[in-house]
Amino acid sequence: MDYKELVFALNRIGIALGSETKLENLFDLIVDEIIRFSICDGCSLYIKDDKKPELVFKATKTVSLVKKGKESVFKSFSVPLELGSIAGYTALLGTTVNIEDCYDISDEKPYDFNRSFDEKTGYRTVSMLSVPMKDNEGNVLGVIQLINKLDKDGKPVPFSKDLEEIILSLASQAAVAYANARLLEANKNLYKALVEAFSEAIEARSPHTAGHSKRVAYISNMIAEHINSKTDGVYKDVHFSGQKLEELKYAALLHDVGKVAVPENVLEKRNKLEEDEIAVIKNRFEIIKFSVTHNVRDEKLKDKFLDEIKSDLDFLLEKNNPGFCSDEDKAKINKIGKKTFVDFDGHERNYLEEDEISMLTNFVKGNFSPDEWEKMKKHVVNTLDILAAVPFTSELKDIPRIAGAHHEMLDGSGYPYNINGEKILLQSRILAVADVFEALTAHDRPYKKAIPTEKAVQILGFMAKDGELDPQIVDMFLNEGLYEKYLQARDSGKTDD
Ligand SMILES: [Fe+2]
Ligand SMILES: [Fe+2]
Repeated sequence: MDYKELVFALNRIGIALGSETKLENLFDLIVDEIIRFSICDGCSLYIKDDKKPELVFKATKTVSLVKKGKESVFKSFSVPLELGSIAGYTALLGTTVNIEDCYDISDEKPYDFNRSFDEKTGYRTVSMLSVPMKDNEGNVLGVIQLINKLDKDGKPVPFSKDLEEIILSLASQAAVAYANARLLEANKNLYKALVEAFSEAIEARSPHTAGHSKRVAYISNMIAEHINSKTDGVYKDVHFSGQKLEELKYAALLHDVGKVAVPENVLEKRNKLEEDEIAVIKNRFEIIKFSVTHNVRDEKLKDKFLDEIKSDLDFLLEKNNPGFCSDEDKAKINKIGKKTFVDFDGHERNYLEEDEISMLTNFVKGNFSPDEWEKMKKHVVNTLDILAAVPFTSELKDIPRIAGAHHEMLDGSGYPYNINGEKILLQSRILAVADVFEALTAHDRPYKKAIPTEKAVQILGFMAKDGELDPQIVDMFLNEGLYEKYLQARDSGKTDD
C-alpha cells in the first residue's frame, strides 16, 4: 500500500468509525475494517468490563472459516484480566504484543496462547498482533487481536513493525469511537429512564390510570411497526425508522404529562357528586324520613311517603354514577329536587340544592361538570407547554407536536385546537387510536368503567365511521390481529416492560 492509499484508507476508516453510534454495530465494523486494512485472516475485539477485572469478548471474524461456511463457534464470554493471557497482558500493560507463532511462545513470557478455539475449529493460529485500544487520555478500554497476517499467496506470515504502529493508531481511533458510542448510549438510557420516571410520576397521582401511558406507547408502537410491514393500502409507502419509532414511543409516554397541573379532585373524579356531597344528601333524606315518620299520622300514607323517599334516593344514587342521562331522567331529577320538606329549624327546603341538581343533570363526558371538563381538557395544553420547554434533539423534535394532538379528531371536532385531517400528524392519529382503545378497555378509569372488548371494538368502529379517528388505522387495528395481540400482551404483563 503506498502512502496515498494508506492515508485514504485510514481516513475512510476514521469516518466510518465516527459515524457508527450503535455499539454492537461498531464492534463488528472495527473488526471488519481492521481485517480489510491489514490483510489478515482474523480479528477479535475485547472490551474491559466496567465493574470486574475481566475482558469481555465482543466481536470476532475469521475470514477463512466464514468462507468454509463455519461461523465463529464462540459466543460472548469473558477472560480474567491477568498477565497469563495475551489479551490480559496487552490490556494490563497497555502494550502491543507481536507474536510470530502462537505455538512457539517462549517460556519466559508470562502469557500463553489459549488453543481451545483452534482445537474446536481445526484452525491453526500462527501469527498474532495484540494491540491495546487506548482513548485520548491513554486509558486502555479494550484489546484488538489480529490473527494470521497473510502474504500474497494467502499464507500466514508475521505482522511487520510498520503495520504494528498503524494498527495501534487505528485501535486508538476505535477506542475513541467506542467511548463516544458508549457515552451516547448512556445518555440515551438516561433519557429513556427520565421520560419513564416522569410519566410514572404523573400517573402516580391517579392510581386509576396507572400504566396508561406505557400501554398507549405499546399500542402505538405496535401500529407503527405494522404500518412498516404493510405492502398494500394507504400506508404501504410509510416507513418509521428506528428513531421515528423512538420519537413516537416517547411522545406516547409523555402525552398526558399535562395532567400534572389538573386538580386532583377532577383527575380522581369517579361520580358526578363526590362521596362527601352524597353523604350530605343521604343525611338530608334521613331528616325527610324522620319528618314523615313523626308528622304523618295515617299509617298507609306514611308507608307510601317512605317508599317514595327511598325510591327517590335510590334513583339519585344510581344517576350519580358516570354515564348517560336521558331527558326523562333529567326531568325526574329536577322533579325530585324541587320537592320540599320542613327542616329541624322549621324552614321549608328543597330535596336537592340547585348545584346538586346541576351536577347530576348538567355534565359532560360521563361525570364532569362543564367547568371540570374544561380543566380536564386543559391537560393537553399543559402537555404542550411542558414539552415545548424541553430541548429535544433533532431526531425527537416532533414529540411535542405528536403528543399535543392526541385528542384532535380527523373531522376537527377534537381539542385543544380543532385541527383536522392531514394537519394532524400520522403519529398523533396513531396515538389517538391507541389512547381511546386503552382508555376504553382499561380495568379501571375514574370516569368510565372498563367495558367489554366487543363494545370497545364497536366504539372504535363508530369513531372511525363518524370521521373522528383515522379509518385506515382503526381498520388495521381491528381487522389485522392487532388489538387481540395487544390485549394478550397486556394480560400477560408484557406491556409494562
Ligand atoms: Fe389525554
Ligand atoms: Fe391518554
